[in-house]
Amino acid sequence: MKSVILVVDDDKTNLMLAQKILLPQYRIAACNSGAAALRYLENNRPDLILLDINMPQMDGFEVMGKLREREETASIPVIFLTADNATGTEVRCFQLGAMDFVGKPFVPDVLLSRVSKTIELDRYRHNLENVVREQADKITRDARRLGRIQESVIVGMANLIESRDGSTGKHVKNTQAYVKMIVNELHRRGLFPDLLTERYIQNLCKAAPLHDVGKIKVPDSVLQKPGRLTPEEFETMKLHTTYCRKIIKMILGDVEDEDYVRMAEDIAVHHHERWDGTGYPTGLAGDDIPLSARIMAVADVFDALYEERVYKPPVRPIERIMQIMMEGRGSQFDPVILDVFTEMLPRLREMLGIC
Ligand SMILES: [Fe+2]
Repeated sequence: MKSVILVVDDDKTNLMLAQKILLPQYRIAACNSGAAALRYLENNRPDLILLDINMPQMDGFEVMGKLREREETASIPVIFLTADNATGTEVRCFQLGAMDFVGKPFVPDVLLSRVSKTIELDRYRHNLENVVREQADKITRDARRLGRIQESVIVGMANLIESRDGSTGKHVKNTQAYVKMIVNELHRRGLFPDLLTERYIQNLCKAAPLHDVGKIKVPDSVLQKPGRLTPEEFETMKLHTTYCRKIIKMILGDVEDEDYVRMAEDIAVHHHERWDGTGYPTGLAGDDIPLSARIMAVADVFDALYEERVYKPPVRPIERIMQIMMEGRGSQFDPVILDVFTEMLPRLREMLGIC
């Protein structure tokens, strides 16, 4: 298919001459003013514009400026036409983004050669842009796919570790859902604005399933004990928060996202800290406990109370769970997070299918 060239010149003779030279090889649209050219371009997209500089009302430079302002016309290649061969004019043409510059009167072979080279160059540019765009899209798709695979491997592994204590593996999925619910609500209410960026929220939800990976090193005799743990056994159980550093480094060793790896560590190490500093393993208190771990603590305890374990029946009704957790407001839990969580009771009931 022939390329379309828009010729813009107020001089009728020049328009006819350009048409005569170009018509055998190209389809031509002709306009005798800048305003007419802009009107034509509202509904048409030629492959090249030959634009006269010296025109009454609107000169070629002004037309060029308007072309560059509109997304639809900004990338159409332009060759300026002029009888003025002053260096300053030529420089201005290129500064405005012209692809070339042709002097008048036209020399047919020169005009044809410049036009064909410009169209060819623009075609290469287009093809190259398309290749770059396609490659970029492919890289994004591949990265997303790999991210999803990595996430499901992490969740699967966390489920496997969790299932060792005889639970159904629901804990990983449930706590992740509670964490997501809480963090989104905190964000919606404008709380912790310095920390709760979109990236932080994403990382937190992705890292939540790893909170108990340290349990892989806790012996079955402790993990699966149906009754109350002895003080020694409890000390062993507590170690799951310190074992996890090494395990997370092993699991996420190849992950380059440092924020995500740090988040996973923060959650796994600190989710048993208490707001008053009497928790473990480090005894951090208040705001010194990473926010991610404070959110995880609420989600973790709620699920531990709601679900059945080998060593205890589920707590019911759900209001009783909230009551128990409120007793830990300001001592075990961050009061702001706990308040938001308890206010979400209707949504929790809905999520858990409680009438
Ligand atoms: Fe834990």
